[in-house]
Parts: sequence; C-alpha cells; structure tokens
Amino acid sequence: MPVLSLREFIRKIPKAELHIHIEGSFEPEQMFTIAGRNQLTLPFTSVDELKKAYEFNNLQEFLDIYYAGAGVLVTELDFFELTQAYLRKIREENVLHTEIFFDPQTHTERGIAFETVINGIRRALEEENQSSGMSYRIILCFLRHLDEDSAFRMLEMAAPFKEWITGVGLDSSEVSNPPSKFAQVFEKAREEGYLTVAHAGEEGPPAYVREALDLLKVSRIDHGNRSLEDEALVMELAERKIPLTVCPLSNLKLRVVEDMKNHPMKIMLEKGLSATVNSDDPAYFGGYMTENFLAVSTALSLSQAEITQLCVNSFLASFLDSDTKETMIQKVLDFSNTHSFMMDS
Ligand code: ADE
Ligand code: ZN
Repeated sequence: MPVLSLREFIRKIPKAELHIHIEGSFEPEQMFTIAGRNQLTLPFTSVDELKKAYEFNNLQEFLDIYYAGAGVLVTELDFFELTQAYLRKIREENVLHTEIFFDPQTHTERGIAFETVINGIRRALEEENQSSGMSYRIILCFLRHLDEDSAFRMLEMAAPFKEWITGVGLDSSEVSNPPSKFAQVFEKAREEGYLTVAHAGEEGPPAYVREALDLLKVSRIDHGNRSLEDEALVMELAERKIPLTVCPLSNLKLRVVEDMKNHPMKIMLEKGLSATVNSDDPAYFGGYMTENFLAVSTALSLSQAEITQLCVNSFLASFLDSDTKETMIQKVLDFSNTHSFMMDS
C-alpha cells in the first residue's frame, strides 16, 4: 500500500468544496493585472503592500478589503479569468465537485450587469467541466448588510438565469444582520425552486443558526462554529444531518478561533455533526483545500478515518443527486482503503 506524506494524502484524496466565495479567490497578482487592464486603482500601491494588509481582527476588517478587491472586476473576461484561476488550483487538489458562491450585489451596485458576472463565472465552470469532468453548482449570495428590498431586486435580476443557479445564500457582516431580516426573500426564493443556505454562527450567536434553520429553511449552515454553545441546537443539527461548511484557515485569520489547536472540528465530528472542510476566501486566508485540511489535521492530529469522513461528508452535504453522491463517496473510500500517510513527514 502506498504510504504518502500527510500533505500528499490530503491533496490526492477525492473531495468536494462547498464554501468558496469566488471573489475571495482573487489573488493579489491577478487583482493588479485586472485593475490595470480596467484602468482602475486599488487603495494599495503594490502586491506586497496589499498582502501586508491581510491581517484581520474580525470579519468586517476582512470584508472592507475584500469588497475593495472585488471592485476592479468589470468585464465578463475578468469574471471568467477569476473563476478559471480558482478551478486550475483546485483541479490539482483533486476537488471533483465545487459549489461556488458569488456576491452579485457587490457588482450590480457598481453598474456591472448581472449577466456579465454570471456569464463569465459560468463559462469557466462549463469549460472546466468539459475538460476535466469537475462538476459544479452556483449559489447566489445576498449581502446581509444591505436591506431585504435590495435582495428582492437581486432575485428578480437573477430570474432569467435561474436554470444556472442552484441556491441562494446569505453572507457579509453577520452581527446585527440576523437571518430573520431576510425571511421573506428566502421564502420567495424557495417558492421559485432555489435551495437555501446561510452563513450563521461565524461571529453571530447560536440564535442566528436557529433562525437560519427555522425561518430560512436552509439545507446547510455555512460556518456554524458557535452552534456548539447550544447543546440542544447541536443535537438537532446532528439528528437532522444538517451539514456545516467549516473553514479552518478563515476561522484562524478572522479570529473566530485564536489558535488552530482550539479549532472545534474534532469536537464537531465527535458530536456527530456533518462537518466539512472548505476554503471560504482562499486568496486572503492562506490557502485552498489542501492547506485547510492540512492545518486542521495537523493541529488536531486528525486520524485517517476522520480525514476520510470529512471527504465523505463533503459529497453527502453537496447538492449532487444521490447516485452521483454514492459514486463519489466510493471514490473517497477506494482511495482511503488503498493509501495511508505518515503523520510526521
Ligand atoms: N463573504 C466572504 N467571505 C465571508 C465570510 N467568511 N463571512 C461572511 N461573508 C463573507
Ligand atoms: Zn463564507
């Protein structure tokens, strides 16, 4: 049986990514190239200066820089190249399926047409699917710092592209913007056939997770770390098999956890929660899927069985059909049954 380094085992094991903001995969070098092409200036003079600004004390400090970066994306080609660069990275990490978020209000508020954004993103995903077979879903996120009317207008703008969009989500500044603020637009979205997810319990209290379940009727919780503060909620999440799309490096960079050794991933698994590993905003937080798995596996000494479970969970929690899920899970198990790793190499 081949014995791999932990990094190689993690890189090669089949996996799905379920929590990635495509605007959060905007690497500094590409940001400067695209800004220059569009004759736009960033509030930083160089790649180095920009990278030095990637020190965050909380979610809002990150979001301020993230929206400034996203502000140089203008043409369909920009959105295409952004998505293509992300897909090239995760192809090397044996990500077989990805469900990507995009934040259209960030762009339409600057006068960019919705179709410019989605056409570019989708063309890259389609080309990747044709060439490598990687499958994908697209999830439209409403910005929770804006009002519900704005979210309603976005839902209307998305209508002609409904066939391309599997679900709607909720992101941006969590505290003071509870899921209840968006109950009606999520209800309309569900009536129109969209699945729903929401960021909850990243910085916000467990009550926000409960609202996401009860009012937004979400299929998954994005992050969900603070659910652990409410034992009854944990039991419900476990019993109902509501997945959590957890993002270890994001949690560290945004100070949701102070040290990776205190990350709740192992506790989540022990409590029977369907936790998954994801990158969130990989260009800002120090890496893509491999780096996230490696950081949490090393800090918590996760076993091969636990790492395998996280990859099985990623397909179980996906919006793939049940036959495809089964096929993908078999690929994970086949890999894990025929490979092992050495922890210290
Ligand atoms: N938008 C991009 N990344 C986010 C995160 N981690 N939380 C909330 N909104 C986001
Ligand atoms: Zn996120």
